[in-house]
Order: sequence, then structure tokens, then C-alpha cells
Amino acid sequence: MDLIEEAVTAAIDSSRITALEIDAIIVSNMLGEVTSSQAHLGSLVSALLPHRPPAIRVESACGSGAYALHTACAFLESGRAKTVLVVGAEKMTDVSVDAIAAGLMVAADSEEDRPSGLTFPGIFGLIAARYMHEHGLTREELSLVSAVHHRNAKGNLFAQFRNVITPEAVSKSPLVADPLRLLDCSPISDGGAACILSTNHESEFRLAASSIASDAVSITKRPSITSFPASRDACGRALKEADITLDDLSCLETHDCFSIAALINLEDLGFANPGEGISLYKDLYEGKKTRFAINASGGLKGCGHPVAATGIKQLNDLAKQLTEREERWGMAHNFGGACASCGIHILERMHD
Ligand code: COA
Repeated sequence: MDLIEEAVTAAIDSSRITALEIDAIIVSNMLGEVTSSQAHLGSLVSALLPHRPPAIRVESACGSGAYALHTACAFLESGRAKTVLVVGAEKMTDVSVDAIAAGLMVAADSEEDRPSGLTFPGIFGLIAARYMHEHGLTREELSLVSAVHHRNAKGNLFAQFRNVITPEAVSKSPLVADPLRLLDCSPISDGGAACILSTNHESEFRLAASSIASDAVSITKRPSITSFPASRDACGRALKEADITLDDLSCLETHDCFSIAALINLEDLGFANPGEGISLYKDLYEGKKTRFAINASGGLKGCGHPVAATGIKQLNDLAKQLTEREERWGMAHNFGGACASCGIHILERMHD
């Protein structure tokens, strides 16, 4: 609850609203039962506020944060609420890594994937091996992704890892699930994030689009494991809703739960052709100016991945980046499992 309370307090303090104006709360959490023997988080969070507004918990694996934001948008669009607090938190380090790996696997298919002994590093290891086979990506190239994310996290006081790492260190880090190594993986993390969405107040930011999409949970039920159609679907709908094109975007926070995911995401979102996502990371690593910022926060690799908080944290990072860069449009891309659920939000900075 400390993580939630800190995030909620920071969100209210940095907004123009008072706690009493909050009509509803959406709580994003995946692993409360596994890590803290705690469910019923909606009411627990509601009790933090003096007037105990109605509260709902939302779960969609590592994409829970985006789904909580989407639920909040539905409340606002329907007129059921005018001001909604969205908060996500995960406390993952109180239990063993084995317990976390098993807990996370409830987001995979219990009949098709879990009985084989797969874990999420294992699933993304298979995806990485297949991608390397199809596109000729080398181990050395893949290592650039985490090197860039760690470098981006260096100046982020909220990041779990602020140490710069070389691509060589990534390639030589302990093997986790071939070909993925320790430094290809987002870590086990504790964290919380919150934001307030309102139709009642002027704000520097407008949530211009909120879109979700689903896919088969089991990777055995997909025609390809090197592309995630849910990202394509959610992105297409979000761009339409915001009435912009990819070229308008200046900042992207994308779901790099494993290094290989970052490359697949850039391709599915339409920023690169299939097999060419790495070219953007080569440019970033070499310090070349890219058209838009990618995971300038450090992403999940640098910041950590407290699973249900991540999607909300991405939105807060975008707000910061758009302000610092004086840019207008940013996209947050958050998914659950191997992108069986995907949520995309487009943020617009309104004023100079
Ligand atoms: N990146 C960088 N360093 C990491 C790290 C990571 N992902 N994970 C652990 N470390 C560091 C620790 O800080 C520790 O450093 P220290 O010895 O200096 O203190 C060291 O590596 C060993 O940490 P440990 O906790 O023993 O690692 P582990 O082997 O138990 O766990 C993973 C490593 C990769 C297996 C674990 O982080 C993991 O499962 N990540 C994936 C989580 C996941 O699946 N999320 C859902 C995505 S869909």
C-alpha cells in the first residue's frame, strides 16, 4: 500500500484538483494475491481518500496499466465520472524469483504453454530465436537495445538501473533463456504510478486516444511469433482516434519486457519494416538524431517493470518528455503476455 499511497499523493499534489473531486478510482494490479496475499484492492485504495469513492480493480497481465487507463476513459466518456484517479502498483520483490516466474505465468495459456515448463523469458527466448532465424539479426545487434535503454535511464531518478552498460556486457551476461541473457530481460521490480484523468478541468495534456486489442494467449495459436497483431490493431485505431499519423509522433514509450520485444514493437507499430527495427537502435546507439525518441525514460529494461504499474508510468513519462522537448504528440504502448492484450494511448501537449 505504501507504493500506491506515494503514487496517489504525488498525482494529486501535482494536479489542479483536490482529492474530494475524484469520482472514481481504477486500480491496476496483477499479482496482489501472489506477492502480498491481497486482493480487493479497489476498496483498499478507496479508503485512502476521505470520501471513499467507488473503485474497481483491473487486470490484464503486464498490460493492466493501459487497461486501467482505458477503463477510466470509458467512465469519463459515458459521463459516469468527471474525474478519475488511475493507479497501478506491484510489489514483486517480497517473494522468490521462482514464485514470481510462476505467478507471471498465469498470464500465459495454462493448457497450451504452461505445462511445457515455459516461463516468460522462455517464451520470449523462443520468439527471439525465431526472429533471428527469419531476419538474420545477430546477438551483437540485439545487445544494442538494452545498451540504449540503460543509457536512457541514466538520468531518470525513478529508474531501477541507472548504470550504463556496453553491448558486449549484454552479450556476455548470464544466459537466461537462449538466446536471451540477463541483460536482455526487464527485471523483477517494485513500483507504483498514478495519474488523474478529468473532463472537468483544463490541463496541459489531452488524452487524444485510448485503444485496446486482443490476441490468442497461447503462442501455439499464432500464425507467427515474430509479429504481434494486437499492437497493429490497437495502434491503427489509436492513430485514427487521435486523427494523426505516425509522422506526428515525437516520443514513444514501448513495452520492451525483453530486448527482442522492442524490435518487434517498432515494426508492428509501423516505425520500421519487418526485420529492420534494429536499424533505429543502431542510430540511437551511435547518437544519431532520430525522428522520434524511443523509450527515453529507459523503458522497462532501465526503469524496471512492476508489471501493472508500467502502462501508467509510461503515460507520465510521455508527459515529462513532451514538456522537456516542447513537442506535441507522444504514444504509450503497453502489453500483457506475449501481446495477447495491448493498450495504446496517445497524449497531446496542448499549450506552449
Ligand atoms: N537487468 C539487469 N540486472 C539484473 C536483472 C535485469 N533484468 N535482473 C537481475 N539483475 C541483477 C541484480 O540486480 C543482481 O545484481 P547484484 O548481484 O549486483 O545485486 C544480479 O543481477 C542477480 O540478481 P537476481 O535477482 O539473482 O537475478 P535472477 O537470476 O534471480 O533473475 C531474471 C533474473 C532475468 C530471471 C529476472 O529478472 C526475470 O525473471 N526477469 C523477467 C521478468 C518477467 O518475466 N517479466 C514479465 C515480462 S512479460
